[in-house]
Amino acid sequence: MTTIGIIGAGEVGSQIARAAIANGYDVVIANSRGPETLQALIDELGPSARAATAADAAAAGDFVVVAVPLKAVNDMPVEALAGKIVLDTNNYMIWRDGHFPVIDSGEKTVHELRQEQLPTSKVVKAFTHIQAPRITLWNRPAGDPERLALLASSDYPDALALVTRLYDQFGFDTADNSPLSESWRSAPGQPAWKQERHTRDELIANLARAQRLPPV
Ligand SMILES: NC(=O)c1ccc[n+]([C@@H]2O[C@H](COP(=O)([O-])OP(=O)(O)OC[C@H]3O[C@@H](n4cnc5c(N)ncnc54)[C@H](OP(=O)(O)O)[C@@H]3O)[C@@H](O)[C@H]2O)c1
Repeated sequence: MTTIGIIGAGEVGSQIARAAIANGYDVVIANSRGPETLQALIDELGPSARAATAADAAAAGDFVVVAVPLKAVNDMPVEALAGKIVLDTNNYMIWRDGHFPVIDSGEKTVHELRQEQLPTSKVVKAFTHIQAPRITLWNRPAGDPERLALLASSDYPDALALVTRLYDQFGFDTADNSPLSESWRSAPGQPAWKQERHTRDELIANLARAQRLPPV
């Protein structure tokens, strides 16, 4: 049995938990306010889920999803995430996150900053351009002509391979947007991000159409 640690129990974290449990995983999920505030979600998710602190969710996971916006002051449990593959669902949104000058200048992508904040983890950008409820609505079996693709970016081939397997189980193909330094091509506002319904070929074509844009 594989356990997924999920830090962030909002729209994305809770929806990945639903998809994971539907596919036979156990989940340990955390928010910022404490496990006792997640009882309604745990009741909904059932016996394959439990609530924990962020550090405990990180420690329990065979791999971990971070469904929390990046903060300038790192608020993730670095030590508990050491050595683990970490799926980062974060999108950089100035209206919410404020300005990160190194991202605005194009020097770094937001996922490179996450990798710097988690230097002993293997960060992989995942689930960033699909609205959370659609993770369990737009899934299709392999070979279905209407099957869509999701993006993934990483500097670690084993992290990319893990996300590719997870997407496949969840009902999606993978479009590889590696390494993390190239992940600006699927950032908010880019063609690969704006239009959610993409086959793999369409997504790869849209990655090639990306242009450096002012941040949104
Ligand atoms: N919503 C979407 O459809 C969507 C799609 C793709 C990507 N994204 C991106 O994914 C990220 C998460 O989005 P969301 O919509 O799920 O956000 P959200 O609904 O606001 O949920 C954020 C979650 O993160 C938790 N959190 C914040 N700081 C934390 C910390 N230090 N430790 C543990 N948990 C913490 C919050 O807990 P509390 O509530 O207790 O503070 C909350 O459960 C964002 O970067 C977003 O841009 C969102």
